[in-house]
Amino acid sequence: MASFLPIMSPPMSAITCHEPTSTYFLQGAGSSYVLRVLPTGHLVHLHWGARLEPCAIDWFPLWGDRAFSPNPPGMREVGFTLDTLPQEAPAYGNGDYRAALVGARHADGSHVLDLRVVKREIRAGKPALEGLPATYVEDPAEATTLAITLLDKVAGLEIELLYTVFHGTDAIARSWRAVNRGGAALQLSRALSASVDLPRADWTMLQLSGAWARERQVVERPLAPGVSAVESRRGTSSHQHNPFIALCAPGAGEEHGEVLAMNLVYSGNFLAQAEVDQFGSTRLQIGINPLEFAWELAPGGSFQAPEAVLVRSGEGLGGMSRTFHRLYRSRLVRGPFRDAPRPVLINNWEATYFKFDTDKLLALAKAGKEVGCDLCVLDDGWFGKREDDRSGLGDWTRVNQAKLPGGLKRLAEGVNALGMRFGLWFEPEMVSPDSDLYREHPDWCFHVPGRPRTEGRSQLVLDLGRAEVRERIWADMSSVLRSAPIGFVKWDMNRHLTEVWSPALPPARQGEAAHRFTLGVYDLLERMHREFPDVLVEGCSGGGGRFDPGMLFYHPYIWTSDNSDAIERLRIQHGTSMAYPLSSMDANISAVPNHQVHRRTPLATRAIVAFTGAFGYQLDLLTMTGDERAAMRRQTERWRQVRRVVQEGDLHRLVDPRGNRWAAWMSVTPERDEALVTCVRILTEANAGRLALRLRGLDPARTYRVRVTTTKELPSGSGATRHQEVESAFDASGAALMAVGLRADSPGDFVASTWHLTTLG
Ligand code: GLA
Repeated sequence: MASFLPIMSPPMSAITCHEPTSTYFLQGAGSSYVLRVLPTGHLVHLHWGARLEPCAIDWFPLWGDRAFSPNPPGMREVGFTLDTLPQEAPAYGNGDYRAALVGARHADGSHVLDLRVVKREIRAGKPALEGLPATYVEDPAEATTLAITLLDKVAGLEIELLYTVFHGTDAIARSWRAVNRGGAALQLSRALSASVDLPRADWTMLQLSGAWARERQVVERPLAPGVSAVESRRGTSSHQHNPFIALCAPGAGEEHGEVLAMNLVYSGNFLAQAEVDQFGSTRLQIGINPLEFAWELAPGGSFQAPEAVLVRSGEGLGGMSRTFHRLYRSRLVRGPFRDAPRPVLINNWEATYFKFDTDKLLALAKAGKEVGCDLCVLDDGWFGKREDDRSGLGDWTRVNQAKLPGGLKRLAEGVNALGMRFGLWFEPEMVSPDSDLYREHPDWCFHVPGRPRTEGRSQLVLDLGRAEVRERIWADMSSVLRSAPIGFVKWDMNRHLTEVWSPALPPARQGEAAHRFTLGVYDLLERMHREFPDVLVEGCSGGGGRFDPGMLFYHPYIWTSDNSDAIERLRIQHGTSMAYPLSSMDANISAVPNHQVHRRTPLATRAIVAFTGAFGYQLDLLTMTGDERAAMRRQTERWRQVRRVVQEGDLHRLVDPRGNRWAAWMSVTPERDEALVTCVRILTEANAGRLALRLRGLDPARTYRVRVTTTKELPSGSGATRHQEVESAFDASGAALMAVGLRADSPGDFVASTWHLTTLG
């Protein structure tokens, strides 16, 4: 399988300094990010937009005399004020009243920070971030990093800002590291990862928001004076808001116009916001949520802020998404499964819930094998006392012998004997009050002594910031993984944090507990990655409650949503695709009536929608008819034919499912030799017109063989819905397919078509 990204270019050309004005140009394929060190040592932002060659940008004033905008001490120049200065690392206390990037509380209780540049350096490649997920390079020639060190002289607080340009892309990774070089301890009170001041306010903000089973819906709103923000205070990145924010310039759309976006490589509490100030500038920021956050820095101590990925697109939201996707597919996801074809799985959750035994699971696996599955996953309920979701979490080594006589080994070997991988569900971050682990260690969960403990799904959250808790969980989990041939893990997380307090921290440092939890989760995931490199790990948090770039560093894909209805998935997958590649979205066919929304959709449509991610099944195959299983066998065969283009391709969203009767999208391989176009009719109407789909991203000079598969609703005397798949083929040039396009006109609700394009010759 082809690798996707790296475009090598002479390392130093990606970042250049215009020396006479100390101006740094971070050069993307079509964009520039420009910052300047003022003679005062302030680091200012000059431009993030269309690419321009290095030059002096000094013909307009960066500040002006304004009422109620104070002048920092010692500044002789009239009107110099931080209140209007476009900054890269703003802080509190010297007259910038907008939101800060960094905040500190000193030993004397003051919170003033005056950060000035003391060092700058351009380096080849990109450093790893200690203890945190981040994008990476495989060769230093793939990227260039600008390191700018700022210092608050009074406190001795040093902040090293890192900006990495991935050559040939329009993506920049930003992060920073703080070191206390002073003699007194201080507390970081705010540690956002990126802050950019843009000289206009007429942006539309785009966010990905929703709820459990309704994750990452696209929401747009115009900015207004003040702060427009999304955030998570739940301890994880959450179903409710994604750590993503985009600003769209007036007139920007799916394929045209300017979009600036930030995505945080972090899985805990976050804040993403745009603040329009009194003079019509916008400060765009993303980072750890400052709510209840604090981090002590003893003399010599350091703190690493998570990474933010910044993308600028001149080709609308589509261009933005393709830049994120290429970077994440190739330089965020790691390990042997990064480029490997995603297996077709059968998962027993919606087939059996907690009621299964070895015989049932082996029968399900066999039926899965017959329809073409590669992997059988045993979900929740195999351990401890776990007949429902009210007990047992934490008792990982107590395999339920009543359900699984002979244990996991017998089951896993039985699945292997069918020629399939065996996969297992874990929820390592949790403990049930009704469990042996809890009875042994009732103080290992987050709780405040003297207060009752808030439960969610009858469970409590382990304080994974504590080493002894992590050691025990890992010892138990790894012994289970060694006890049987387990080739896959579904890593789940089914409630949010409450009573975030840790006995391991003194009262003044309780603000560290939530971040330490996230670091603890990363530590466990890193052990999983290092000690079991051949185990494919799927992320999950009640579906897509932790679908963020931090998690993609540890596992190549994530269960997109507990809502597996094909029609609901259109909007969920559409929103998720704003930042995340199709290869990262697990998408399964489930039963009808659908368990979440009770809708009935044709089997073929469910397959076509699930082809948008990592394809699989989550239903009881044993109750399906022979005809249905034959159709499924054809689906897995077809999936294997189109899997490469879905996994490696560039995505073009053709029709937005929001407010439309249709949804359509296509993927094209980087070589433009193959494409898959998908169109789904949501609700039909009488006497409807045809939908014209102009394709994108094809090679205009090549001829494509187009194989069409359409679901048609058949007349049925009984009143039940029956569908048939119809196949046909024709040849057309890339130029004609992009200019004239395809026509979709299947009658009936929830019908779908795919066009699989391959080049001739
Ligand atoms: C979560 C997951 C589901 C399933 C259940 C098991 O809700 O999202 O897929 O694994 O937990 O309890």
